Amino acid sequence: MEDKKTFYITTPIYYPSDNLHIGHTYCTVMADAMARFKRLQGYDVMFLTGTDEHGQKIQKKAIEKGVTPQEYVDNIVDGIKKLWADMEISYDDFIRTTEPRHQKRVQEIFRKMYEKGDIYKSEYEGWYCTPCESFWTESQLVDGKCPDCGRPVEKAHEEAYFFRLSKYSDRLKEMLLTTDFLQPISRVNEMISFIDQGLEDLCISRTSFDWGVQVPIDPKHVVYVWLDALSNYITALGYPEMDGEDASKYYKYWPADYHLVGKEIVRFHSLIWPAMLMSLDYPLPKHVLGHGWLLIDGGKMSKSKGNVVDPVVLINRYGVDALKYFLLREYTFGQDGIFTNEVMLNRMNYDLANDLGNLVSRTVAMIEKYNGGMIPPAGEIEGPDAELREIALACRDKVAAQMDKFSFSNALEEIWILVRRTNKYIDETAPWVLAKDPALKGRLDAVLHDLAEAIRIVSILIHPFMHTTSAEIRRQLGIEGEPAWDDAVVFDLLGGNSVVKGDPIFPRLDVAKELAELDALKAAAAAPEKPAKEYEPYKEAIEYADFEKIDLRTGVITKAEKHPKADKLLVFQVDMGCETRQIISGVASSFKPEECVGQHVIVVANLKPRMLRGLESNGMLLFACEQDGSFKFAQTSAEGGVVVG
Ligand code: ME8
Ligand code: MG
Repeated sequence: MEDKKTFYITTPIYYPSDNLHIGHTYCTVMADAMARFKRLQGYDVMFLTGTDEHGQKIQKKAIEKGVTPQEYVDNIVDGIKKLWADMEISYDDFIRTTEPRHQKRVQEIFRKMYEKGDIYKSEYEGWYCTPCESFWTESQLVDGKCPDCGRPVEKAHEEAYFFRLSKYSDRLKEMLLTTDFLQPISRVNEMISFIDQGLEDLCISRTSFDWGVQVPIDPKHVVYVWLDALSNYITALGYPEMDGEDASKYYKYWPADYHLVGKEIVRFHSLIWPAMLMSLDYPLPKHVLGHGWLLIDGGKMSKSKGNVVDPVVLINRYGVDALKYFLLREYTFGQDGIFTNEVMLNRMNYDLANDLGNLVSRTVAMIEKYNGGMIPPAGEIEGPDAELREIALACRDKVAAQMDKFSFSNALEEIWILVRRTNKYIDETAPWVLAKDPALKGRLDAVLHDLAEAIRIVSILIHPFMHTTSAEIRRQLGIEGEPAWDDAVVFDLLGGNSVVKGDPIFPRLDVAKELAELDALKAAAAAPEKPAKEYEPYKEAIEYADFEKIDLRTGVITKAEKHPKADKLLVFQVDMGCETRQIISGVASSFKPEECVGQHVIVVANLKPRMLRGLESNGMLLFACEQDGSFKFAQTSAEGGVVVG
């Protein structure tokens, strides 16, 4: 067995409800830089990312698009994988919650918690925020809206399984107060006050739609999407299988070193997730780190506001490394930051084109011009040489100290202190002056050598953040082999290498021109989408005065089953936007249950509820009737009159 130290880092598994934007990219880029940094330090790294594909939000999206949820997510996940490939994200595994390996392990986790006595069946009555996929009590709502995202909530009333979260309140509180599990520390206080308000048991199954992992002990239910999603951090390692190739990953990497998550989902990761692991009697992850948001126009980016920044546009124009550098250098970990194109372009110009790019091209050009392209060996140490060496040799450990705190920005600043000092060294030593006097050739050589050495150290230290740039700098300096961590604390490694002149590693950008072009691209991308399908105004076709009393609404069938006690009846769950209702109709001879899911229907919304063979029907669906007496969904049949089903 190798005894390399291990390092396990995760990102949230993102919802494939839409294409990802710069905010998701920011989190993944941080995790990638950390994974690459730890690999450079010699760790055996496991870097996990993936997609959270179940739940009501995704099902709704698929219905809107008229495709199955699986088709919907497959398409978006392809795009996400392509984005990460384009961004050169070095994940070791990508888990999709629709994969069989995940689903069967989630079922095992549910079963284990159930057998432990931590799961019981009851009835959920309260509110649900579909965008956040979170349950809220009446008193938690703020102005009747979701306290997390401020969007409208829906009423939910359904049979459900519950997890005894309340049982773990004291242990959670103790863990949060006595360990450095949750960072930054400001989040700890939020979580403690959450616990102090009284943790209620958590609803962990749904019956009003079916896009999820089936509850193993009760197939009418699907597992609540957050229980399903949080489990990914161990299902990807093979848990709860105790042998086989996957399981050995569990023993090797669990507990995770860091779960990197946005601040809005810290609650799920620092209360629900540790409580689940306590229930499973498994070790807790070492740290949950909540990062801030990238804001735009003063608010959170969202597809519905049309203000998302598309990372693909930026990498196509400026390159992966420039974008990664900007994201890691500009923002302070844990705090929100404002994204603007102008700040980004200026950073790219000052730090990359001017500071780093110029340093490399000047140095390579001078070595070509003054020494026939060969890096001279070390010479006598004089003047500013000692200070340059000192800063260069101390840089690695300063960078490491910042990385240990996830201070990407400060880590890069430490490297740029060296970059700027090296540029200053050129000005101080003025090699073009030394070159004029053949008697000073020895000094000129020593200067060129030290410049190349300082840049070589920079090439190692930037590797985790910009590996392509690192490789290009090394190519230009004629250095062979991969950057090695320990080579960053020695000087005098080069001598005799032939430099290879290349294009500028970062071209200078014309900021005004770029700003105009980015605005034009954004305007083109924001061109209005096709409006949602509209339906015939059925009300006009109805003549009877009494019908005016009827409140007709539209809804979408999210679940359909045969009535257990009546062959002709189908039991529907109908999402009416404001709530999900159970409605029973006598249309079993016309439809298979599975072909009903996703259908838009007209609901008689104000019909008094009644019992049909032991089940409550709350409203009525309207179907169109064909000549042969079979029913059709209303909008698909222009000819048939509306008949009550
Ligand atoms: O919450 N700024 O997925 P999600 C910074 N599936 N980071 C941002 C951001 C922004 N404007 N917008 C998104 C989910 N993020 C669940 C997670 S984990 C078991 C399940 C990042 O698609 C940030 O890391 O809504 C945030 O936590 C995550 O994307 C949410 O992605
Ligand atoms: Mg979210």
